[in-house]
Amino acid sequence: NVTRYYEFTISRGRISADGVLRDVMLINNQFPGPVVEANWGDWIQVIVHNNISNPFEGTSVHWHGQVQKNSPWEDGVPGATQCPIAPGHTYTYKYQAELHGSSWYHAHYSAQFTAGVAGPLIVHGPSALPYDIDLGPVMLSDWYHIPYFSIVADAVGTNLSLIPPTSDSVLINGRGRFNCSDASYSSSDEWLSSNIKSNITWTCVDDAPLSSFRFQAGKTHRIRLMNHGANGVQRFSIDNHNLTVIATDYVPTVPYTTDVVTLGVGQRTDVLVTALGTRDAAIWMRTSAPGGEPCGGSSNPETLAAIYYQDADVTTLPTSSSSASYNSSDCSNDVLTLTTPEFAITPSSNSWTQDLSLTLELNSSGIFEFMVNGQAFHSDFNVPLLPQAAAGNLTFHPEWNVYNFEQNTSIILNLTNNMPLTHPFHLHGHNFYVLAVGEGNGPLGATSEGPNGGPGFTPGATWDGTVVNPTNPMRRDTIIIPPNGYAAIQFELDNPGVWPFHCHVAWHLSGGQAINILYKHEDIPALPYGDVAETCVDWEYYTNHTVV
Ligand code: C2O
Repeated sequence: NVTRYYEFTISRGRISADGVLRDVMLINNQFPGPVVEANWGDWIQVIVHNNISNPFEGTSVHWHGQVQKNSPWEDGVPGATQCPIAPGHTYTYKYQAELHGSSWYHAHYSAQFTAGVAGPLIVHGPSALPYDIDLGPVMLSDWYHIPYFSIVADAVGTNLSLIPPTSDSVLINGRGRFNCSDASYSSSDEWLSSNIKSNITWTCVDDAPLSSFRFQAGKTHRIRLMNHGANGVQRFSIDNHNLTVIATDYVPTVPYTTDVVTLGVGQRTDVLVTALGTRDAAIWMRTSAPGGEPCGGSSNPETLAAIYYQDADVTTLPTSSSSASYNSSDCSNDVLTLTTPEFAITPSSNSWTQDLSLTLELNSSGIFEFMVNGQAFHSDFNVPLLPQAAAGNLTFHPEWNVYNFEQNTSIILNLTNNMPLTHPFHLHGHNFYVLAVGEGNGPLGATSEGPNGGPGFTPGATWDGTVVNPTNPMRRDTIIIPPNGYAAIQFELDNPGVWPFHCHVAWHLSGGQAINILYKHEDIPALPYGDVAETCVDWEYYTNHTVV
């Protein structure tokens, strides 16, 4: 198998993705980042330079959905598998493309992925799928004009109303359009502390360029949808065209046809689209974050990208209107009975069940945190968990939220969402079976006084133990847990290591909504500890000798 070589330089930059100039972080000055592409079984090597300065920040890159079976130390999570890549330093990731399909990579340091450090990760599989043209990645994302650290600061603050921020735009492949006279422009501006406000250049240009794609009449096109946003659930459709779903995350599914695809942050869906228009047709693809909480807290901006057939006039914009039908207040994935994996696997029957209760609570210092079983996750960048566990040091601080399943063979996580918020939960290192997902039925919103004087929420609905498709349940690596709802997932403990399991909403993750799953520490593959240790030596030196 060959090795595919890439080199990333991560630095600060400024772009106007939607017409509004904004401070961002870029890989090789590109947004979204460069496509990383390989064939199934190839090795992927990426040299990552941290050139983030003024101010300096650490960084890391995570390869979302790749299972890192023989290389758990390459998972790219500061505090779990490595120390952050210190400013001015370099780390080289090398891992095998063990799963094929469509995914993305992103920084796993704070909420940097929402600042622009994200890009597509495409692994070509062996199968001859029934399509003619690969349109490549179509990346969907909400977009915020204010810097991520300011939103993160509010998410772990004292004001509940600031926790779900308003998205200013939605982007398709890094492009969207903001209406410069939009009221939300000034209202999002209001949230900023004055010192941040004075550092932002609020230039806005109307009619920013949109992304565009080509269709060939009569041909079938593969579109690789991914939600690399911060918060909003995306709803994707193409005017007057059906979408045939062939994979969810890295798992090929029995094909089914729909007119709208829903993706939570971190999720991917591969669809086939047969171009049934005339040779001169021009139509819109569109995506929007459903309006308001519980679907993502956005003000429901929609964005468009043009699709031009081969003889279409590319100098004029399409004029089609939406043909998709959906309930605008529903933000769930498609029902589990629709999404059956192509290759059947029956979950093992001797599993251990761990209940996990998700809450938003004031902590003892009066700050809101997203808690799992009453504890928010706080990492210690100087003490990554994987090398600790591999060395047999199994004493962990409670704030590290380590769940040690040691010698079990299979685990069920039974999650109850006691919040009127949507949580796309992602597990590193595995595809999991989705045994059941359910909506809550209580009223949305605070109902009573909760712990530490915070808001009390309607308790989430609970799973009754019924499994959908028990001999071949849906599998994927990220699942939307509905507001006040539940989800039950199961996975086999076949990849010894330390694996984060977290909500992929940037503000919820930064607010502590994460645990780390450890098992079979004695079977963790030997670490090429030189490399990981070096990130820690560099990071410790950096944090002790901050050069201003
Ligand atoms: Cu997309 Cu913890 O990752």
